[in-house]
Order: sequence, then structure tokens, then C-alpha cells
Amino acid sequence: MKEYKIGLLKGDGIGPEIVESAVRVLEAVGKKRNIGFTFTPYLIGGAAIDECGKPLPEETVEGCLNSDSVLLGAVGGPKWDTLPGHLRPEKALLGIRAAMGLFTNLRPAKLYPALKGACPLREDIAQNGFDIMIVRELTGGIYFGERGYREGKYGEEAYDTESYSRMEIERIVRVAFETARKRRKKLTSIDKANVLETSRLWRKIVHEIAAEYPDVEVADMLVDNAAMQLVRNPSQFDVIVTSNMFGDILSDEASQITGSIGMLPSASLDSGKRGLYEPIHGSAPDIARQNKANPIATVLSAAMMLLYAFDEKEASEDIVSAVDKVLEAGYRTADLGESKYPLLGTKEMTDKIIENL
Ligand code: IPM
Ligand code: MG
Repeated sequence: MKEYKIGLLKGDGIGPEIVESAVRVLEAVGKKRNIGFTFTPYLIGGAAIDECGKPLPEETVEGCLNSDSVLLGAVGGPKWDTLPGHLRPEKALLGIRAAMGLFTNLRPAKLYPALKGACPLREDIAQNGFDIMIVRELTGGIYFGERGYREGKYGEEAYDTESYSRMEIERIVRVAFETARKRRKKLTSIDKANVLETSRLWRKIVHEIAAEYPDVEVADMLVDNAAMQLVRNPSQFDVIVTSNMFGDILSDEASQITGSIGMLPSASLDSGKRGLYEPIHGSAPDIARQNKANPIATVLSAAMMLLYAFDEKEASEDIVSAVDKVLEAGYRTADLGESKYPLLGTKEMTDKIIENL
């Protein structure tokens, strides 16, 4: 029997509940497919601040680096919102991404036929469906550039800088072309090249690398236009590649048109097989510990882990199809709106998914 060591970063708010759901689903699918998992929790975010005064303890980084893969819930909450930037829970997320070298962030946004009714777009648009893979650069750009406070001409000033090296752009753009090659062979590179120098370098490199992928159709799109196109006609997109901040913003938009932000999983990958898997949504402190959170994004993140980290294609598909079946049957959590059955809590939705494995 294969045995995988999974590091658990439960984090804050709904983090512990949804991670618990994904662990239960992994254990169930492991039983069916004869795969063993050992789970080791590590502190991160506000939970780590409360316990040891910093959002990303060294033991956490070390534990993640020594795991076969890492599953993360969410970090942050109002309790820690007034701390200085370097002590905020969010800083831990950036820190672990950097420490593990996770420069690729895959965020698949697809409209489940069963959720067409929950899609906020006009019916004729929802009817066309969509299946988009957002490839977000995750360890560069303005998230990691120089920032600070200074005295300026008009008094107090703050600044953040966006910078991208050729190396950082090339490696993420290659991942995106490879991803497109395995899908519908259409890549949209999103930038702000009419204003930003980093975007002009980005665009130049996309065009250079495009020559190596003549089978992939590639187009540039300005980010403001992309935000509009995502709600006007999302079915035009296959793979999107974009910078750290544009990817953050566009993936939230893409998630909402799937019906709920509670649906989107993600995989953050290094250049090899190690990665960190997490839902794209946040810690939702307002619904924490009430058994209300939708566990699907985290459960689907576990399915991505099985596929990308462990090559356990069948087990991964088991989970995806169990989620499909549960949604098709009409079961919903509160964020997914209308349901023919009483709304399910986190735990009951997890039970349903396990029943359908
Ligand atoms: C995300 C989140 C994070 C990000 C925050 C919590 C730092 O919004 O993963 O999309 O901006 O990357
Ligand atoms: Mg985000």
C-alpha cells in the first residue's frame, strides 16, 4: 500500500472545519483505492500568532518541506486585522508559498451543469457553460516587491512595487502553454501592457514562447477587458495566464460565476511534484464553527492533490465524480442557494460526498 505524508495547515475561521472534511474524504477514498495517508497538523496564520506569536513558525515551514504534500484551509480574521503587515496571518500564506517555491497557482473555474441556476449570469450566457483554468503566477510581482512607508512631498506616503524578471515570467508562461496543450489549446495572457512595463516584458516573453507551441492559439488581453469578458462571455476562455495580483482578482470573479466562491479549489506547485492545495476562498470568520461552510472547494483541492502530487488519477476522479453526483442529486450548502432538499451543513455535505465515492 502506498503511504503519503500530508501536512495540514488548518488555519483560521472555517479553515479547521473544511480541512476536516477533506481529510475525511481522503480517508474514505484511500480505503476504497488502497492508499494510506498520514496527516500532521502545523500551525499557520492567526492560530499560530495566538499560540507562538508569529504567523509562520519555522516548524511549520520545515514540516511542509518534509511532507509529500500540504493541504491548507484558510488564514486571517478580524482578530488579527490590526497587526502590522509583517505579523498578519496573510503574511504566512505568502511566506509558505515562497518557502516552498510554489510559483504556479492553478485555479480551475468551471460551471457545473447542476449549478446553472446558482450562476449570477444571464441565462443565455450560463447556458453556454464554461471551463477555465487560471494559471496565476504566485511568488512574484507586487505581492513580493519592495514596499514601505516614507515621507513624501505631501507628507506620509506608502508604496508597493511590481517587478518581474524574465526567469519568473518564462517559467509560468511555459506552465500555461503546457496546460493549454493538454486542454482545448487556447491560451489568453492577461496583462496591462498599455500602462505597465512589467506587462510589456510579460507580453514580449509570451510571444517568444508562443513560437515553441504552434499548436496552441494564444491571445493577449488587457486585464480590464478580461474582467468584463469574464461576465460577458466566459465560454471564450480555456487557459488564462496572468500575474500574481491580476490572478488573485480574476479568480475571485471567476469563482463567483461558478455559483459560489465555495466551489473553487486550487493547486500551488513548485517545479517538481510538491505542492500546496487550498480552496481559493478565505476564512469566512462570520460563519466559522457553525457547520455552514461549503467544504467542496477544499474537497476538490484534495482531488487535485491526488492527481498532481501523487498521480492517483482514479482516486482523484472518484472525488470529482462524487461531488458531481451530490450536486446533480440536488444537495446544496447555504452559499449555493435554492435547493429541493433542506440545506446541508459542512458535515452533512461531506457525508453525502463520502456516500457517493
Ligand atoms: C488568495 C488569497 C490570498 C492572496 C490572500 C489571503 C493573501 O486572496 O489565495 O487568493 O491574495 O493570494
Ligand atoms: Mg484571493
